[in-house]
Amino acid sequence: MSKYIIKGGNKIEGKLNIRGAKNAILPIMAATILNESVSIIHNVPDISDVHFMIKILESIGCKVSYSDGTLIVDSSFADQVEIEECYVRKMRSSIIIMGAMIGRFDYTKISYPGGCAIGSRPIDLHLKALKELGIRIEEDEGFIKCYKDNLEGNIINFEFPSVGATENAILAAVKATGITKIYNAAREPEIEDLQNFLNKMGAKVKGAGTNYIEIEGVRKLRKVEHDVIPDRIAIGTYMIASALTSGKLEVDNVVISHMEPISDKLRSAGCEIEYKNGGLLLKPPSKIKSIDLVRTSPHPGFPTDMQAQLMTFMTLSDGISVFHETIFENRFMHCAELSRLGANIKYITENICMIKGVEKLRSAKVKSPDLRGGAALVLAALTIPQETEISNIYHIERGYENIENILRGLGADVLKIEEI
Ligand code: UD1
Repeated sequence: MSKYIIKGGNKIEGKLNIRGAKNAILPIMAATILNESVSIIHNVPDISDVHFMIKILESIGCKVSYSDGTLIVDSSFADQVEIEECYVRKMRSSIIIMGAMIGRFDYTKISYPGGCAIGSRPIDLHLKALKELGIRIEEDEGFIKCYKDNLEGNIINFEFPSVGATENAILAAVKATGITKIYNAAREPEIEDLQNFLNKMGAKVKGAGTNYIEIEGVRKLRKVEHDVIPDRIAIGTYMIASALTSGKLEVDNVVISHMEPISDKLRSAGCEIEYKNGGLLLKPPSKIKSIDLVRTSPHPGFPTDMQAQLMTFMTLSDGISVFHETIFENRFMHCAELSRLGANIKYITENICMIKGVEKLRSAKVKSPDLRGGAALVLAALTIPQETEISNIYHIERGYENIENILRGLGADVLKIEEI
């Protein structure tokens, strides 16, 4: 189990250039199965979730190479239709491979992903969407067997705008006959990036980024080259690192509309944010202002993936902030660890908590509870002049490329201790 030792107190400031979004590259990697050809993808982050997805693609017969942020997948000879259970168990989001698999093959079998730390995360909406498209599904001893009796466009109405279910529906519909209409689709920017990738390979998808998506099925797809959008969550995390430590941060490459739900909250906390030349400049607040209410919601609301990091920010604010997590039922595991570091957090209900800002946090040994909760602990440690030890950092490495080197480059004193 590796860990970080962070001696905080330094300003986190300078220039930042962040690679592509984890939540965009994973569905795009699934989509490479569809073209039976080569996909060249640039700006791919070097994170463990990407390496994991590479293993899945290789396990079905794809040839994959990855170096210097460029991923090349040749899916021409993919021929294995069963996804090994260990993959889906280890990375829940690998379920997004299901739509692409059944788009390409007549049959596929994948293990039921089960719950995960942040919530039970059922896949009923994914299965409903595939069934609407004519896929016959048998659930059998923890496995899902999908049969492509008749893949035909249809109307899909989501009762909740699930990101993964929207992506699975799009991936399956790309090669269906006729037109698929998705209502109440998730609007996350990463879905728009998936659409752009698919259209470059010859698919006909429109509307992603809005709550209505239309897909006209096509028979054949082709070779594709694509650049992944910047990771709004990683950028938001580093913005808070600077804001917490009175540093100025310049980010090279951002999409303003992707950043706004996050920037809006940081402005409420007293940050100044200026967009210029395709990038962003953050100036820290002289005093961190509390935010009355932070409620997570689907895009363009405030993202659940930034909830834990913003909570760390509020632990040092000048007043009381209330956090309401509406997307996942168990996404407050970082609260207990932040409390160990001296934060004043009280639960109101399971998914509402109140944070009263304190003058300063104090060092302790803490454990990353999950990916974003782990990032929240790193942020807290950056404010503490003594050494803070954070274990279970494999969670953090799932989604943050090279976080210790990036932070060091911005002035932090971070040591990674590798333990096998
Ligand atoms: C994606 C993101 C994750 C982010 C989340 C919400 C990826 C790889 N992961 O996860 O980082 O936190 O969106 O923005 O893109 N639900 C159901 N039934 C379903 C599907 C989902 O009840 O069939 C529920 C989930 O349990 C959860 C909520 O819907 O409570 C949101 O889940 P969803 O939008 O599907 O998130 P993911 O795609 O899993």
